[in-house]
Amino acid sequence: MMATWLGIDGRVIAVTGASSGIGKSISDSLKAAGARVANLDISAEGVTADGENHLDVHCDVTDRDSVVAALDAVVESYGSLDGVVNNAGINLPRMLVDVRGERPEYELDDASFALMMNINVKGVFLVGQQAARIFAAKGGGVIVNISSEAGVEGSDGQSVYSATKGAVNSFTRSWGKELSKYGIRTVGVAPGINEPTGLTSPAYNEALAYTRNTTVDNLTPDYAKTIPLGRPGKLSEIADLVTYLVSDRASYITGTTYAVTGGKSRG
Ligand SMILES: NC(=O)c1ccc[n+]([C@@H]2O[C@H](COP(=O)([O-])OP(=O)(O)OC[C@H]3O[C@@H](n4cnc5c(N)ncnc54)[C@H](O)[C@@H]3O)[C@@H](O)[C@H]2O)c1
Repeated sequence: MMATWLGIDGRVIAVTGASSGIGKSISDSLKAAGARVANLDISAEGVTADGENHLDVHCDVTDRDSVVAALDAVVESYGSLDGVVNNAGINLPRMLVDVRGERPEYELDDASFALMMNINVKGVFLVGQQAARIFAAKGGGVIVNISSEAGVEGSDGQSVYSATKGAVNSFTRSWGKELSKYGIRTVGVAPGINEPTGLTSPAYNEALAYTRNTTVDNLTPDYAKTIPLGRPGKLSEIADLVTYLVSDRASYITGTTYAVTGGKSRG
C-alpha cells in the first residue's frame, strides 16, 4: 500500500535550474507531494540543505565534472537518486538574418548558438547520462526533460532555441527506447506560453519584439484568440504534470513528450 495516491513520499528528485521559474515550481510541487528535492543550479553555492527535503547544489550543467560532482553530492546527502528533471535552459531570441540591419546584436552568431546549444542540449545530455549510470546501477529511475512548444512548432525569431528543444525531444524518444530495459523511463514536458519567469526578462522581451518587428508593448497578443483555453499557463500546471510523471502512476509512459499549452500546440 502506498502512503499517498501518488506514492512519491521520500523519493529523491534532482531538478536542474530550480532556483527560478518553472524549476522552482516543479521543486515546490514535488515537495508538496512528499519528495525530497535537490536543486542543481549554477546560481547555488556549494551544497546547502534547507530543512529535511531541500538541497541546493552548485552545478553548471554544461560541465561534466560539475554534473558528476553535483549528482554525487545528492546521493551522498540523501542516500539515493530516484529521478532527475532536466529543466535548466535559456532562450535568447535571435533572428537568422537581421535584414533591417538596425540591431545586429539580435542576429544569431556563433556565441549565442553555442550558449543555447551548451545549456539546452549538452546540459541535458550530461545530466541524463550521469543519471542513467546511477539509475542503471540501482535498477530504475525517471528522467523528465523540459522541452518547449517551439521544439515541434518552430518559433519566429527563435530558430536555434527551437532546434535545441527539437533535440531534447529526440533525446526523450531515443532514451525511451534505449533505457527501458534498465527500468528507466524518460518523458518530456513541453510548455507553451506561461506566466513570467526569469527567462522572460526585459532584455528577452526587447530582443523578441525586435525579431518580430513590433514593440514590447505590442508583443502580447490577445490570448483569448491565440490560446484555446484563453490564458497563459500557470507554472504550477507544468509542475503538477512533472510530479505525476516521476511517480509510478506513470509507469507505462516513456519516450514521449506532453504539450502543456492550453490547446495551442499541435505537438
Ligand atoms: N518560461 C516559459 O514560458 C517556458 C516555455 C517553454 C519552455 N520553457 C523551458 O523551461 C525551462 C525553465 O525555464 P524558466 O522560464 O523557468 O527559466 P528561468 O530563467 O526562470 O530559470 C532557469 C534556471 O536555470 C538556471 N541555469 C541557467 N544556466 C544554467 C547552467 N549552465 N547550469 C545550471 N543551471 C543553470 C538559472 O540559474 C535559473 O535558475 C527551460 O528549459 C525553458 O526552455 C520555459
